[in-house]
Amino acid sequence: MPNAVAETVWDVVVLGAGAAGLFCAATAAAGGARVVVVEHNSKPGKKIRISGGGRCNFTNREVTHRNFLSANPDFARSALQRYTPQDFLDLVDRYGIAWHEKTLGQLFCDGSAQQIIDLLMQECTAAGVEVHLDTPVLGVERGEVFTVHTQRAPYSASRLVVASGGLSIPSLGATGIGYDIARQFGVRVIEPEPALVPVVCDSVWSERYGALAGVSLDVEAEADGPAFREHLLFTHKGLSGPAILQASSYWHRETDLTVDLLPGADDPQLYEQLRDDRRILRNALADLLPSRLLQQWPDERLEHKAIDLKKSDVHDVLSGLHRWLVRPIGTEGFAKAEVTRGGVDTTELSSKTMECRHVPGLYFIGEVVDVTGWLGGYNFQWAWSSAAAA
Ligand code: FDA
Repeated sequence: MPNAVAETVWDVVVLGAGAAGLFCAATAAAGGARVVVVEHNSKPGKKIRISGGGRCNFTNREVTHRNFLSANPDFARSALQRYTPQDFLDLVDRYGIAWHEKTLGQLFCDGSAQQIIDLLMQECTAAGVEVHLDTPVLGVERGEVFTVHTQRAPYSASRLVVASGGLSIPSLGATGIGYDIARQFGVRVIEPEPALVPVVCDSVWSERYGALAGVSLDVEAEADGPAFREHLLFTHKGLSGPAILQASSYWHRETDLTVDLLPGADDPQLYEQLRDDRRILRNALADLLPSRLLQQWPDERLEHKAIDLKKSDVHDVLSGLHRWLVRPIGTEGFAKAEVTRGGVDTTELSSKTMECRHVPGLYFIGEVVDVTGWLGGYNFQWAWSSAAAA
């Protein structure tokens, strides 16, 4: 670690020019603090830039703490209530950024995610924040103040806000420095793991279903949590699509994903329909399911007409489609994960200010904290809300 002495003592050093770091810096500086943001990338907000398919799903109309995973599910409640989706939407409107609502309350820019980065940078500039890019943080020391050692100059401040994000997508700048800093100060970290991530299945599974790569359908999927009714996408290695990404956040090794391939179907009515159908089940069910999937579905009763089977057999076929158990062998990992679950243990932080209970002046915000949102704008809302709280 370089041992040069910092020339300026700032009120706040923010580590990371992502969503949470930039918003926190602008908010703190608007309140009168002298703030610097240090970031190792050459551009701010790289993850924002690619988010939401380039249009940034910047919040969701309906956000409560129930849309998040955390060892302490109540932790996020206070920050989310004090800085709400409407608060961020008001800011977006003040900048004249056109937006639209997609499904399930998800709000996206009409134009480009770059507009959200520009908004954050303009807020920083207006409040007098300095954003120092190309400045990798190497480590932190605490004496009378915090000193942040970088590959360039050291930075000193009475308050340090760690907004270094999770481990997802290392090619965009993700590092584990936030967790290292937490551990250095005796702050517990819950094992970070990939979340909102495609799952990978074994070779036997791939032999049967690998050929379906690209096929997508409406399903209801769940792991050890709520069920998500959205699309599923077959990949060469396993499963993806929003329903699977959502369920993946709750999935643990050696457990199954449960997928309902006929969500919302009225089985008694469907039985009547199938019984009147002259086609074999594999063809008759193709009105509801992709025929390529039915070709691979391992139930020889599909070769028969419903009328030639016992009623209980037809119901059994339908039950199998309602309750498809998939046992992934893993996920596509941090390289493909949209977020990281786990992180700085919330019992170590004040839910009002995000400050460490036992380390005055040290704050953690955004994705580095053990608060992980569902797909749909929740993770950015957590970035804004936790930043505003700090
Ligand atoms: P973020 O990762 O944004 O910022 C951390 C910053 O710290 C980075 O700029 C990083 O370079 C910097 N840093 C790390 N280590 C450093 C070091 N040693 N020195 C200096 N700097 C360092 N969410 C959502 O709500 N809606 C959406 O549409 C999407 N879409 C989406 C798409 C994809 C492909 C991904 C990967 C993720 C999303 N997300 C999302 C999730 C969302 O992007 C994420 O939750 C937030 O960006 C988290 O904000 P943070 O500021 O906490 O971390």
